Amino acid sequence: MPPPGLRSLLLAMLAAVVRCDDPYSLSQVLFCQPSEPQSGLLKIFNEDQMFSYNFTDNSTSPWINDFDKWRGLAFPDPSTVQSHVSLCHRFRQALTNALVNIMPEARGNTHVTVFTARPLRLGVPNTLICAISDVYPPALNITWKKGGQILTTALDSYKYVAMEDLTFQAFSYLNVTAYHNDFFSCEVQVAGDDRTIVAYWIPQYPVPSELLLYGLCGSGFTLGIIFLLLGVWFCYFARKLHNTD
Ligand SMILES: *[C@@H]1O[C@H](CO)[C@@H](O)[C@H](O)[C@H]1NC(C)=O
Ligand SMILES: *[C@@H]1O[C@H](CO)[C@@H](O)[C@H](O)[C@H]1NC(C)=O
Ligand SMILES: *[C@@H]1O[C@H](CO)[C@@H](O)[C@H](O)[C@H]1NC(C)=O
Ligand SMILES: *[C@@H]1O[C@H](CO)[C@@H](O)[C@H](O)[C@H]1NC(C)=O
Repeated sequence: MPPPGLRSLLLAMLAAVVRCDDPYSLSQVLFCQPSEPQSGLLKIFNEDQMFSYNFTDNSTSPWINDFDKWRGLAFPDPSTVQSHVSLCHRFRQALTNALVNIMPEARGNTHVTVFTARPLRLGVPNTLICAISDVYPPALNITWKKGGQILTTALDSYKYVAMEDLTFQAFSYLNVTAYHNDFFSCEVQVAGDDRTIVAYWIPQYPVPSELLLYGLCGSGFTLGIIFLLLGVWFCYFARKLHNTD
């Protein structure tokens, strides 16, 4: 049985879909819910998220820097946004009161994977990405651990990305310098679920480059010569011992 407060979740999609030319669509997703973050506002062009609204300081964040030039056009003025959000919360409350015990609460089938941003090289700084898909509701707690110890530093904030099927994706980033024998985990708690989903990451041997192959051949060859010399020496030594007996 999910906690009663969480049953009241509703995602309000004010799908202001503007069709410019047929293959292009511009959509806006506004959500409100009882858990954190209580409100979210996202702008999507085709299937790519372009902007998100920060309700703390009424600012707009581009998803990548290239979108920065359209930042001012992304969302209506703060008072309009505020009135849409208030409407969303009132609507959610009214629907919750009407539908509790009638409609089950929707849930995603969350999956978590961890991978590196750049090809792995031991001892070289890299970024671990924890990608969480099929998230619903958009209320997660993400914890990074190294060797079972919680990492409290170097944790970047995570962001929600709206998908076409009304689920979300979320990403969390961790800057690391990985060494052999390290292990990391990304642990995700989903609102209303008693489960914690854990994805592990261990540094695996990097794909051998041509240089590495040559290096390995070289060391193999050297080792071969050493063993050959040792063998010769042992034979000689054994024979010498045998002769002196
Ligand atoms: C929103 O803005 C506040 C204040 O500037 C900042 O502390 C916070 O990190 C921002 N949130 C996100 C998700 O960027
Ligand atoms: C954000 O906008 C709302 C609505 O206009 C306003 O009430 C609030 O004070 C603004 N917050 C900040 C930090 O500017
Ligand atoms: C992580 O590293 C990247 C460069 O690789 C840097 O731009 C970013 O600011 C770093 N993030 C943190 C939280 O240190
Ligand atoms: C995340 O952590 C906060 C503080 O510990 C807690 O109140 C909240 O219920 C947690 N959320 C989820 C989705 O587990």
